[in-house]
Amino acid sequence: MDFHTATEPRLVKAAFGGTVDRIPVWMMRQAGRYLPEYMAIRNQTSFLGLCKDVDLAAEVSLQPWRRFGMDAVIMFSDILIPVEAMGMPLVFEEGPHLPQPIRSRADVEKLSIPDPVEKTGFVMNLIKRLRSDLSGSPDTALIGFAGAPWTLASYMIEGGTSRNYTQIKAMMWNEPKTLHMLLDKAAQTVTHYLNAQIEAGAQVVQLFDSWAGIVDSNAYQEFILPYHQQVISGLKRQGVPVILYVNGSRGLLPLMMQAGADVISVDWLTPLAEAKQIIGASHAVQGNLDSNALFADPSVVVPMAQALAQTGGMTGYIFNLGHGILPKTPPETVKAVVDAVHAYQPSATLTTSVGR
Ligand code: CP3
Repeated sequence: MDFHTATEPRLVKAAFGGTVDRIPVWMMRQAGRYLPEYMAIRNQTSFLGLCKDVDLAAEVSLQPWRRFGMDAVIMFSDILIPVEAMGMPLVFEEGPHLPQPIRSRADVEKLSIPDPVEKTGFVMNLIKRLRSDLSGSPDTALIGFAGAPWTLASYMIEGGTSRNYTQIKAMMWNEPKTLHMLLDKAAQTVTHYLNAQIEAGAQVVQLFDSWAGIVDSNAYQEFILPYHQQVISGLKRQGVPVILYVNGSRGLLPLMMQAGADVISVDWLTPLAEAKQIIGASHAVQGNLDSNALFADPSVVVPMAQALAQTGGMTGYIFNLGHGILPKTPPETVKAVVDAVHAYQPSATLTTSVGR
């Protein structure tokens, strides 16, 4: 089967380094609390209930796409869904809470490596459902995702979102073998989970290592990079690009490039031009508008988005934020940014001067 067909979504083309007629755009956490139509559904159910209800999850996945016309729909779920399936109780209060955190080797040994269809079949059903809902829009890419082993381990060990990551760092120094055992189990889980998503119809997958930027590059090379490589090399993914996101990646881009991903998703601490210079032509680049810029006046943020579009260009570039969209973001500003990126075309002078 030829995967590089004329109907290949623009975002997939760009992810493989191709040239597109219009820069593809989506935003991390594009579905969520800043949208009144999300709150209308969210108020009827718990967050985990919403993730596990295929009809409601499909509806909220599609909301930002309907409203703004992004080039991708990301399935509505959470990175901690497979952690629950590994055997850890999970609740969402103010944020995620794991009441029985991992503290010992015995705790790690008890964790299972779940069969993704058996334990999290609602995720695969959501993907199938969204592919069918999007069958009339072959240019829209459906994105699946997973948390990367380090970020999942940080939640499993800290028991929730952490400020200082003291517990996972203590395990890293006191009991590195136990941490490696946990990371390996998480990597096996995530590999099976992403393969099941691809089999169900995900056209792109993103690996979120949100908290991989909290250690130095030596620890990154020992505890983070090998597990990116393990997961990505284990994917059966002909035609499905992999996006790797690390928050706080300043200084880590060369190590991110060794993971085997197709796209490096850059946070806003590295100017896009500098990131592109480091990354070169070997990977596509995604990013990197500051999520907080969406609170600035549209007359200010639109030129910022246009400048990113100009730097990113029409080849191997996906417009996104540098991290997730924040609650209370004005939807009108999101619309102004999406429209501005879509309207962007390289100026004639720029094209000719590059052409000569
Ligand atoms: O991008 C999308 O629109 C898809 C949905 C999505 C959610 N979480 C929904 C969500 C995705 C891709 C995630 C990934 C995720 N979850 C990450 C990695 C991305 C990142 O932001 O770094 C992380 C670290 C989590 C864990 C998590 N889930 C936290 C820390 C929180 C609480 C923080 C917050 O913003 O409230 C969640 C809850 C969560 N996940 C919400 C949503 C829409 C808010 C829950 C609500 O509606 O009450």
